[in-house]
Amino acid sequence: MPPRVQSVKGTRDLLPPDTAVWAAVEATAREVFGRYGFREIRTPIFEETELFVRGVGESSDIVGKEMYSFEDKGGRRITLRPENTASVCRAYVEHGMHQLPQPVRLLYIGPQFRNEKPQKGRYRQFHQIGIELLGGRGAASDVEVLLALVAFLRAIGFSDLTILINTVGDKASRARFKEQLVSYLEPLREKLSEESRVRLATNPLRILDSKSLEDKALLAGAPSLEAALSDESRQHFEAVRSALDHFGIAYRVAPGLVRGLDYYTNTVFEVVSEGLGAQDAICGGGAYEGLVEELGGPPTYAVGFAIGEDRLIDVLPPESAVRRNAAGPLLVAPGGRLANRPSVSPLLELVEEVRRQGWAALEGPAKKDRLFALAESLGSTCVLFLGEEELAAGTVVCRDLRSREQRSLLRADLMAHLQREFS
Ligand code: HAM
Repeated sequence: MPPRVQSVKGTRDLLPPDTAVWAAVEATAREVFGRYGFREIRTPIFEETELFVRGVGESSDIVGKEMYSFEDKGGRRITLRPENTASVCRAYVEHGMHQLPQPVRLLYIGPQFRNEKPQKGRYRQFHQIGIELLGGRGAASDVEVLLALVAFLRAIGFSDLTILINTVGDKASRARFKEQLVSYLEPLREKLSEESRVRLATNPLRILDSKSLEDKALLAGAPSLEAALSDESRQHFEAVRSALDHFGIAYRVAPGLVRGLDYYTNTVFEVVSEGLGAQDAICGGGAYEGLVEELGGPPTYAVGFAIGEDRLIDVLPPESAVRRNAAGPLLVAPGGRLANRPSVSPLLELVEEVRRQGWAALEGPAKKDRLFALAESLGSTCVLFLGEEELAAGTVVCRDLRSREQRSLLRADLMAHLQREFS
C-alpha cells in the first residue's frame, strides 16, 4: 500500500458535528455585529508580501519569522495572510471607501496563516472573526467596537471574561517612551533574556510583554509608558475608560499590554481566558491611526479587533445557546415490532411531522447501543421513541440526552415540549 498522505502539521480538519458549532458561532457574529452596523468583507487569502511588511511592520514577530511567503510564477512576492487588518485597509483605499459616508464598518470571518510552533490553541492555519471601523472619531469609536465585542461574547454565552486594556500612546508619546526605555535597558543588556536582547534593537516596547522572570525583575525599575503619554493620549484613554464604566463593562488596565503588531496607536486591548493555558488570548485589537495612510490613503482613524475562533470554540461554555443551535437532528427510534414495518410507517410520519415544524429529524435504529452511538456522532440532543404501545395510546417517549430525563408525552403536546426544551 502506498503511504498515506496526512494533513500538514499545524493544520486540521473540522468535522461534523463540530462544524455545526462553528457555523452557529459565525451566524451569531454576523447577527450581533450586524446590529452594530458591521457588514461583511471577504479579502483574498494571499496578498503581496509588501502589504504585511508595511502594514504589520518589519519588527513584528509575524513579519520577522511567521509568514508563509513564496514567489509565484510571475516572480511576485506573495504571502498567505497572517491577519486581516492590513488587507481590509488595502481594500478600503483600493475601492475608495474613504469617500463613502464615514465611518465604514467591516466584518470578516476566515482563515489566517502563521508559521508558528504548533501547540494547544496555536495552529498554522487558524480562523479569525474580526471587525474594523474605519474613518471613526477617536475614543468614541474605540468604545463602539468594545461594546460590540462584549455583546458578541455575551450572545455566545460568556459572562465572566474580562477585557485587558492599555494605551500605547500616540506616535510622539511612543517615540519618547522608546528612547527612555532603551536608555534604561541598554546598560542591563547582558542580563536580559536572549529574545529581549534582540527586541532591544528591533522592537523595545515588546520587552514589556516578556514572560521571562529575569526580564520582569529588570523591568520593575523601568520608566513607565504611562508617564511618557502626551496630554491627548492620556485624555483619550480616560475617555475610553469612563465610557466603559458608564456602560458597566468589566475591564482591567494592563500596563504591560503592548500587542505584537506595529500599527497600534493609543487604545489596545485583549480578552484572555484561563481555560486556554499558555495561548490564552481569545481576542486582540486596538486603534491604528496611521495604517490607512501608510497604505496610500488619507489620514484615517481606525479601530478593530480579531477573535481567534479556534480558541473561542475551545472554551465555549457548555450551556452556550450556540451549542443548542448547533445540535444535531432529533432521532426517532422505533420500539417493538414497529421496527419491522415497511417504509411508510408511523415512524416516518412522525419524523416528517417534526421536520415540518422546523427541526431536523432522522429515523434511528431500534437497537439501543447503535441508536446512542449514532446520536453521539450526530450531536443529537433528543431521541423520540415510538413503539406499538405508544402508537395505540397516542403518546411518544421523549428522552433528553443532555439531562438523561425521559418523559412520556401526548402526541398533541409533543411540539410544544420540543419548542420549550430544544429550541
Ligand atoms: P492578533 O493578536 O495577532 O491580532 O490575533 C488575534 C487573535 O487571533 C489572537 O488573540 C488569537 O486568539 C488568534 N490567533 C493568533 N494567532 C493564532 C494561532 N497561531 N493559532 C490560533 N489562534 C491564533 C491580529 O491579528 C490583529 N489583526 C487584530 C486587530 C484587528 N487589530 C485591529 N484590528
